[in-house]
Amino acid sequence: MTAQRACGVGDVAVSAALKVELDGIDVAIVKDSAGAIHAIGDNCTHGDISLSEGFVEDETIECWAHGSQFALRSGKPLNLPAFEPVPVFPVTIVGDDVLVDVQNPLNLN
Ligand code: FES
Repeated sequence: MTAQRACGVGDVAVSAALKVELDGIDVAIVKDSAGAIHAIGDNCTHGDISLSEGFVEDETIECWAHGSQFALRSGKPLNLPAFEPVPVFPVTIVGDDVLVDVQNPLNLN
């Protein structure tokens, strides 16, 4: 178990994202429109853009630069120009803490 504290549950608003760095990896902690918390790689796979600066809608986050949307559960881009997924990291909520395991992405092997 390599999960570590990323932030507090209340540190991220609904339909918003917070950028954190864990083990040297930039991670976007995203609270979707239903209030569920996700952790994905913060860097858009199309360019050097922080996804946490993008727009959260339902279970997606949209890169502000060229409009690719990424599914928060799978990391997959839903439209071009991005065509490679971002990593999705396991999230555990313990009390008010959001724990993320950046060493074991769920979707990339
Ligand atoms: S940099 Fe994100 S879609 Fe182009």
